[in-house]
Amino acid sequence: MDTDLLRAQTPACHDLIHFNNAGAALSPQPVNDALFKHLLLEQRIGGYEAGEATLTAQENFYHAFGRLLHCSPSEIAYIENATRAWTLLLQAMPLAKGDCIITGQSEYASNYMTLLHLAKTRHVRIEVIPNDNSGQICLQSLRQKIDEDVRLIALTHVPSQSGVVHPAAEVGKIAREHRILYLLDACQSVGQIDLNVDEIGCDMLTGSGRKYLRGPRGTGFMYVKQSTQDYLEPPSVDLHSASWTGKDTFTIRDDARRFENWEHYVAGKIALGVAVDYACDLGLNVIEERVRTLAGLLREKLRQLPAINVHENGEGLSGIVTFNCDGHDASALQQYLRGHRINTSVVRHQINQLDFSQRGLPDINRASVHYYNTEQEIDTFCQILSART
Ligand SMILES: Cc1ncc(COP(=O)(O)O)c(C=O)c1O
Repeated sequence: MDTDLLRAQTPACHDLIHFNNAGAALSPQPVNDALFKHLLLEQRIGGYEAGEATLTAQENFYHAFGRLLHCSPSEIAYIENATRAWTLLLQAMPLAKGDCIITGQSEYASNYMTLLHLAKTRHVRIEVIPNDNSGQICLQSLRQKIDEDVRLIALTHVPSQSGVVHPAAEVGKIAREHRILYLLDACQSVGQIDLNVDEIGCDMLTGSGRKYLRGPRGTGFMYVKQSTQDYLEPPSVDLHSASWTGKDTFTIRDDARRFENWEHYVAGKIALGVAVDYACDLGLNVIEERVRTLAGLLREKLRQLPAINVHENGEGLSGIVTFNCDGHDASALQQYLRGHRINTSVVRHQINQLDFSQRGLPDINRASVHYYNTEQEIDTFCQILSART
């Protein structure tokens, strides 16, 4: 990996340490070029006309994701963000009173609130599987909770609030054994971990563009396995997701685009396709290795600082590193770092009711690295942090 070249294509790297890649990563120049090019075309010739002139680039979006996830382009839909994609899929399931959805302790706040909403409106039951001592979903508890009412396993692959990587493929095996649908939230894993939907064994997968994929904000996607598509009834239709075939009839599209809207962020979709190609050209296995190495180094150096408590242990962790600093409020520390041109984020207890209550955590700090970060940046980060502690 030519880090110098990658950083040259990421202009903000020159005077910014960006450790907020799990929030929104910095986009590389080719992605920004694609975005701006389309916006300028819209400005010059008109939005509809620009749309018609760039059909091939728009179509590339589906091929790029097919390449990334090892699936067919017809199994991909463009959705404006991961939460919307995830919610649409849940609402599309024919769930009835008494049906059960199994999820995990580290579920993302919006996902879990969608489940609570479904429990309220459709009277489904939610079962939360605890994590084991390593912080991963406990597979034994998962097996024990499966009964004839379970319709779906909905799991977050890499949580927003921890460096843990849940064993997605092992969960997929269990789901297949019991013929239960499996939805994976890959929002934090896509772009940093090599994903293959067949190997994972998921029926549906969702993610956003702005995080480890380095795409623009306001973009996302879903994967829906071909054989699962007809089982799902999109909660709404429009003239793109369906065809009006007669005065009283319509037919829904026969691919994953049945979940799309006609009107959408065309520039963002094109640019996200470019971002996915950029990642695939670098190689997801190479990216994964580099991110793991940098995050491991960061954890090791943070552990050497006396006042810092790192919250994740063990092997096979992701690029997300979480910690607290004794005697320092997480938000104040984030602001201090920002004053030194270091971007990090704060994970709040309030949006992690299940996980943080279980782990007894207050608000915590999060530094998330990507492959374009450097060992030198990690040293600088630790020096600036230790000057404060
Ligand atoms: C694990 C996880 N799932 C879902 C989301 C929601 O993504 P979006 O903001 O694109 O809806 C996030 C965002 O941080 C996340 O971390």
